[in-house]
Amino acid sequence: MNQGFDAKYGNDMCGTDPLTQHLGYDGTHKIVAVANQKGGVGKTTTTINLATALSAVGRRILIVDSDSQGNASTGLGIAPADRIETTYDLLTGGRVTPMKTAIPNLEIIPATVDLSGAEIELVGAERREACLKNAMGELAIDYDLVLIDCPPALGLLTLNALVAADEVLVPLQCEFFALEGLSMLLKTIERVRDAYNPALNVSGIVLTMYDKRNRLAREVVEDVRRVMGETVFDTIIPRNVRVSEAPSFGKPVMLHSFHSAGAQAYVHLAGEMLRRDAAATAANSATTIRGAA
Ligand SMILES: Nc1ncnc2c1ncn2[C@@H]1O[C@H](COP(=O)(O)OP(=O)(O)O)[C@@H](O)[C@H]1O
Ligand SMILES: [Mg+2]
Repeated sequence: MNQGFDAKYGNDMCGTDPLTQHLGYDGTHKIVAVANQKGGVGKTTTTINLATALSAVGRRILIVDSDSQGNASTGLGIAPADRIETTYDLLTGGRVTPMKTAIPNLEIIPATVDLSGAEIELVGAERREACLKNAMGELAIDYDLVLIDCPPALGLLTLNALVAADEVLVPLQCEFFALEGLSMLLKTIERVRDAYNPALNVSGIVLTMYDKRNRLAREVVEDVRRVMGETVFDTIIPRNVRVSEAPSFGKPVMLHSFHSAGAQAYVHLAGEMLRRDAAATAANSATTIRGAA
């Protein structure tokens, strides 16, 4: 499957680079774009539930809802009428105070349909790709981690997220065309790196909506792991009805049904991120000490 992909991305993407720096909470804030140009692959679900799991262990998290559908806002119980200062304002130079959610340590800048207009309005702006980055400068300081929930397109909103971010987290649905979509996203990330944001890293790929009874899904997991190596998280998010019904209650699945397989998978994913981070921090300080000696 996907010949040519290995040659193009195999060494670059599987080897040293993306894996040397993981989601880190070493006292500095980190901005992570949750991106995949495909719709319905689990970006919003992953954003909400990772944020919830990490905030439960004391991390201060901000979600920037950067999809005009506002699913992250809805999924966290923010009613449309309450979305006063939004990601649209953030991108167009307005003052924005993030909203508290029902979850301690978790705040959000919500989105409304206005955001679809920003995409058009920004086209004429100076440094239109850096509007979010400029706006995030002061905001991000108050948080350990900012998660930007991207829309299902590689347009100006996703570009702004990739320019503002330190890392990209890619949810990948376990389906046949997963790798084709990924290859396009990785090319975009490479272009953003070349043109605007040389430090941008792929922090990880999360396999989502896995159905273990489905042979094709198992094959996709094998393929993605073979091509992308350790960039792929060990934790796989199963397809789980509790995950899909949680947003209609305005709650993360962890609050809706903590013992469900879906909620537990997101708890594991958060744990894996923290462990990866601790390992990366230890490796970095070892390098620093060796350098100083
Ligand atoms: N692990 C899962 N099991 C079952 N349904 C899921 C799972 N992850 C996401 N969904 C559902 O699939 C749909 C798309 O997920 P979503 O996170 O909104 O994707 P995206 O943000 O990439 O468009 C939503 O209805 C969501 O509730
Ligand atoms: Mg979404």
